[in-house]
Parts: sequence; C-alpha cells; structure tokens
Amino acid sequence: MNRFLRDSGHLARPALVLVAGLAVFLVVRGAVIPKNFGKYGHYRPAALDLIRQHPAAFAGQDQCLACHDEQAKTRASGKHAHVACEACHGPQAPHAADFVNVKPALPDVAALCARCHENDAAKPKNFPQVVTAEHSGGVVCNTCHQPHNPHL
Ligand code: HEC
Ligand code: HEC
Ligand code: HEC
Ligand code: HEC
Repeated sequence: MNRFLRDSGHLARPALVLVAGLAVFLVVRGAVIPKNFGKYGHYRPAALDLIRQHPAAFAGQDQCLACHDEQAKTRASGKHAHVACEACHGPQAPHAADFVNVKPALPDVAALCARCHENDAAKPKNFPQVVTAEHSGGVVCNTCHQPHNPHL
C-alpha cells in the first residue's frame, strides 16, 4: 500500500490538472451562456423580444391594393396576378406608412425580370422562361411587356 502511494504522484498531478480544467470550464460556461438559454429550445428567450422590436420591412399587398387601384386592376387581369407587389418592388413598409415622404425607386427592369424568368434547367419545365439575351436581343423587357400584365 505504502509503495503504491509513494509512486502515485505522477497520477495525482494530471488528475489535479484535469479537475482544475473542468472547474475553469464550468465557471467560464456559466458566465458566458445567457440567462434562460435552453428554457424553450436551443435559443435565448429574450432574443424573441429583440426580434419583435425590428420594424416590419414588408407592408403586405393588402395595403398596396388599397391605394394603387390602377396597378391592382392591371395585374389582376394578367399572368402576374399572383406575383406579390413587393416581390418586384421590394419591402415597402416605410412607403406604405408614409407615402408622402418615402417614395419607392422603380425596379431595375433589366435585372428584375431575368431574376425569375432566366432560363434554368433547375426550374420546373412549365414555368415560363427565356434565354433573355436571345429572346430580347438586349432590348429592355418592358419595351414589349407591361410589368403589371406581361401580355398587354
Ligand atoms: C396610403 C396609400 C399608399 C400605400 C398603402 C402604398 N402606396 Fe405606393 N404610392 C402612394 C402615392 C400617393 C404615391 C405617389 C404617386 C405618384 O407620385 O404618382 C405612391 C408611389 C408609389 C410608387 C412610385 C411611383 C412612381 O411613379 O415613382 C411605387 C412603386 C409604389 N407606390 C408602390 C407601392 C407598393 C408596392 C405598395 C405596397 C407595399 C404601396 N405603394 C403602398 C400611395 C400609397
Ligand atoms: C412583375 C413585377 C411587378 C409586380 C408584381 C408589380 N410591379 Fe409595379 N412595377 C414594376 C416595374 C418593373 C415598374 C416600372 C415600370 C417602368 O419603369 O416603366 C413598376 C411600376 C409601378 C408603379 C409606378 C407607376 C406605373 O404604373 O408604372 C407603381 C405605382 C407600381 N408599380 C405599383 C405596384 C403595385 C401596387 C403592385 C401590386 C398590385 C405592383 N406594382 C406589382 C414591376 C412590378
Ligand atoms: C418574382 C418573380 C417574377 C418576376 C420578378 C417577374 N415575373 Fe413574370 N411571371 C412570374 C410568374 C409566377 C408568372 C406566371 C407563371 C405561370 O402562369 O405559370 C409569370 C408570367 C410571366 C409571363 C407570361 C408567360 C406565359 O406566357 O405564360 C411573361 C411574359 C412574364 N412573366 C414576363 C415578365 C417580365 C417582362 C418581367 C419583368 C418586368 C417579369 N415577368 C418579372 C414571376 C415573375
Ligand atoms: C421585342 C419585344 C420583346 C422583348 C424586348 C421581350 N419580349 Fe418576352 N416575349 C415577346 C413576345 C412577342 C412573346 C410571345 C408572346 C407572349 O407570350 O406574350 C414573349 C414571351 C415571353 C415569355 C413567355 C415565354 C413562354 O415560354 O411562354 C417570357 C417569360 C418573356 N417573354 C420574358 C421576357 C423577358 C424576361 C424579357 C427581357 C429580358 C423579354 N421578355 C423581352 C416579346 C418580347
């Protein structure tokens, strides 16, 4: 027994280092992990309140329709009937809330239409798509297509 204890120093030292390391880990972990983390899931519950404080970016098209009757009617009668206003015009909540002071820039047609209609083998076959360079010959799309009703 004595002989065992006499030779056990080399075991005790690494064990001590291990225990000290574990203690440091637990202290740091306790200090770094936010309060209530994991209460409902793998996130911090207070983050929900922070996210709620962000102003809404999209107004939702019910609002657009209330003021922009003409564009709404044009769109309803064409193939873009189910493309939301803000899918093309971008998030416009600030404009909808204060249309006097916030006037949206019009979309850049050259980039906009290709974003959805550029030919791509990954798209469903029945989605209308064109090789824009060949199809338009470099002419901007709304020379021939009305954006709100592309067949007009
Ligand atoms: C409370 C009424 C109101 C709401 C809601 C509203 N708008 Fe407007 N919008 C206007 C008015 C008024 C103008 C200025 C019209 C003008 O100058 O001819 C305007 C201008 C615009 C323009 C610029 C027109 C131009 O000629 O430069 C765009 C684009 C537009 N709105 C899109 C939208 C979209 C998309 C929505 C929905 C998210 C929306 N608006 C919601 C009233 C509204
Ligand atoms: C498919 C894309 C697309 C959709 C969907 C769309 N717009 Fe537009 N809109 C455009 C483009 C592109 C222009 C600019 C046309 C130009 O520069 O001549 C425009 C122009 C406008 C203008 C300026 C006046 C005019 O008629 O040119 C208003 C206002 C407007 N859109 C409102 C709306 C509203 C409201 C909706 C939903 C009912 C809507 N848009 C849906 C692409 C779209
Ligand atoms: C956010 C995506 C989106 C954008 C941006 C967009 N479109 Fe479309 N477009 C659609 C959808 C969705 C349809 C309907 C597809 C269907 O009926 O299966 C459509 C239908 C069409 C059609 C009718 C095709 C047919 O014969 O069935 C034409 C033409 C067209 N778009 C041209 C344009 C032009 C020009 C622009 C730019 C001003 C544009 N689109 C921007 C989504 C988009
Ligand atoms: C010189 C006139 C012209 C220009 C510019 C033009 N188109 Fe067309 N486009 C047509 C005609 C004509 C058709 C066939 C009739 C129709 O479907 O309206 C067509 C059809 C389409 C279709 C339907 C294809 C299908 O398979 O059903 C889409 C999508 C389309 N165009 C998108 C665009 C886009 C995106 C641009 C800009 C890059 C553009 N067009 C520019 C004249 C034009």
